[in-house]
Amino acid sequence: MIKKCLFPAAGYGTRFLPATKAVPKEMLPILTKPLLQYGVEEALSAGITNMAIVTGRGKRAIEDHFDNSFELDMQLSGTSKEFHLKEIKEIIKNSTFTYVRQKQMLGLGHAILTGEPLIENEPFAVILADDLCDCDESGIISQLIKIYNKYKCSVVAIEEVPMYQTSKYGIIAGKLVDETRDTYRVTNMIEKPEPKDAPTNMAIIGRYILTPDIFDILRNTKPSKGGEIQITDALLTQAKQGKVIAYKFKGKRFDCGSIKGYIEATNYFAKHQGIV
Ligand code: G1P
Repeated sequence: MIKKCLFPAAGYGTRFLPATKAVPKEMLPILTKPLLQYGVEEALSAGITNMAIVTGRGKRAIEDHFDNSFELDMQLSGTSKEFHLKEIKEIIKNSTFTYVRQKQMLGLGHAILTGEPLIENEPFAVILADDLCDCDESGIISQLIKIYNKYKCSVVAIEEVPMYQTSKYGIIAGKLVDETRDTYRVTNMIEKPEPKDAPTNMAIIGRYILTPDIFDILRNTKPSKGGEIQITDALLTQAKQGKVIAYKFKGKRFDCGSIKGYIEATNYFAKHQGIV
């Protein structure tokens, strides 16, 4: 059973400066909800109630967001504006939040390793809140948990991207294991290869189920692309033992780490909620 979800949320969000100078990038809103709240809702909808967040300096707004605000509660209680807080209060009631600070920005793999004391020795989900997803039925983490329950090894969500974009993603190669043609046993994975070096156009998006042996592997993973410790490299160690499955998730994803994706997501959700 997957009970915990790790949210790496220590990055600087340089692409959104100056907005992210004092506001964590995970707190940027799509309509009225911060990106991280969408991720937490996705985890909750998969039956996960323990949210483990890897933060860093200047990220205190995250803790305040997922906590009661007695002053606001008092002000709005019994007024017509009370409903604005309903969703977030439900989340606070139904989840436990734990935090650890990443002291140095040494990459996504390092951020995940920093979360080890919050996760301990059990399989866990990972959500990168930058990748905002909208699915018709179950969220991506629910979809990955189904796959995990079948294969009992690490699982990554993938999507086909145009070949010229391979240098933005971890790219996998694998063998189909399922007649539905959406599940692969991973044989190779490379972090952000140039198109000429990319084995396929199947890109990892920010949703993972990881088995806890990943922590020991990460401890022994050397920095690579960009001088950072990459989760993709650690997963390759598992993949070489046949222990990584890639799954083409069902749903729509927005890269909210880019301004273009952020605008697309805003327009999409505004349209879906009948605002424009
Ligand atoms: C990270 C991972 C990459 C993955 C991507 C998904 O990169 O390192 O393998 O494809 O997330 O969003 P980042 O976007 O943090 O540079």
